[in-house]
Amino acid sequence: MKLLCVVGVRPNFIKVAPLLAAARAHRHPFEVSLVHTGQHYDKRMSGAFFADLGIPPPDIDLGVGSGGHAQQTARVMMAFEPVLLESDPDVVVVVGDVNSTLACALTAKKLHYRVSHIEAGLRSGDMATPEEINRICTDAISDDLFTTDRMADANLAREGVPGERIHFVGNVMIDTLIRHLPAARDARIAERLGINRPYATLTLHRPTNVDDGETLAALLEAVLAGTGDMPVVFPVHPRTRSTIERCGLTRFLRDDPGPGLFAVEPMGYLDFLGLNAGARLVVTDSGGLQEETSVLGVPCVTLRERTERPITVQQGTNIVAGNDPGRVRAAIAEGLGREVGGGQTPELWDGHAAERIVDILAERS
Ligand code: UD1
Ligand code: UDP
Repeated sequence: MKLLCVVGVRPNFIKVAPLLAAARAHRHPFEVSLVHTGQHYDKRMSGAFFADLGIPPPDIDLGVGSGGHAQQTARVMMAFEPVLLESDPDVVVVVGDVNSTLACALTAKKLHYRVSHIEAGLRSGDMATPEEINRICTDAISDDLFTTDRMADANLAREGVPGERIHFVGNVMIDTLIRHLPAARDARIAERLGINRPYATLTLHRPTNVDDGETLAALLEAVLAGTGDMPVVFPVHPRTRSTIERCGLTRFLRDDPGPGLFAVEPMGYLDFLGLNAGARLVVTDSGGLQEETSVLGVPCVTLRERTERPITVQQGTNIVAGNDPGRVRAAIAEGLGREVGGGQTPELWDGHAAERIVDILAERS
């Protein structure tokens, strides 16, 4: 059976790594190819993850790069179509909710290829975010919908997806976490950064938080006020870096681990996992980090109005705070008031999701 897996952005590499390993180790002879759309391309946003996660280099890099939504989606579709026809796989596997996910699913489905969507069924209800549109459209046209929790199954059922297309398999991102946590801890990143007391971490990259200078400044101020004299390690996403530079916000940042926002480059997977595993608190607007902190038992404050991952609030460690500065400060105080080690790991987030997916794909071949 021939699988063509698509990746485009940082979290995709983390999700696809266990799938590639499970497909290659499976008793059925899977032939696997990996297409990178090139949506993320900086070494720290892309290449570093292949090395950290032991993923072989992509067979093809479409090299589409950055651009507006229409431009980026269209460029991926145009570049992917000939590659797909040439490869002629049995299944196209897409992960997550980014522009590359939708672009490749749409291209494949129109050419009558079978499309499998991993991390299907998540819904925030917020159609103002590009990810929600990507999720709904990708799920609507995919043949196999692999979900991370039963709420996602219910979302899909509500949208009329027949039950036989929905497979609750667990969470591939957590497969990767479980596999790499010992090595991540061994890397002792906090010590290497010179931090020897309780610290927090911060990531921000949602357009609604970071594209406008005033909004971003107010958020950084709120995080600073909430975390007091704790060091807050802040690996800065390139999208956020560009606003910081354009709007002159470097005054909020420092380049050492004293009290305040310690800005660093985007970190490799192992270092960042190790950093979060040892943190007192994580403040973020990331999707994946809400899940990782839930499994690590580290309190997480999410700077978004709504989450597509409500299970991380119900069972994990997540507090959804929006981006109003007062609410953010209060949520940080609440997070710091919680013990590390709280929350529970959601059902089937056990390190074996990718094996279940590959078994299902093999059965259907
Ligand atoms: C994208 C996804 C988002 C996901 C995130 C993961 C969409 C619509 N958005 O957001 O859902 O959470 O990836 O990190 O698909 N840039 C660089 N170097 C890079 C990549 C990006 O400098 O390697 C800069 C460019 O200025 C670019 C901007 O970051 O315009 C945004 O990149 P883009 O991939 O469009 O969106 P993200 O914000 O990264
Ligand atoms: N991550 C990383 N280094 C960083 C920031 C994030 O390795 O500097 C990892 C993080 O642990 C998670 C994934 O990247 O596994 C999340 O990616 P991101 O927040 O960019 O995207 P989202 O999950 O919001 O789509």
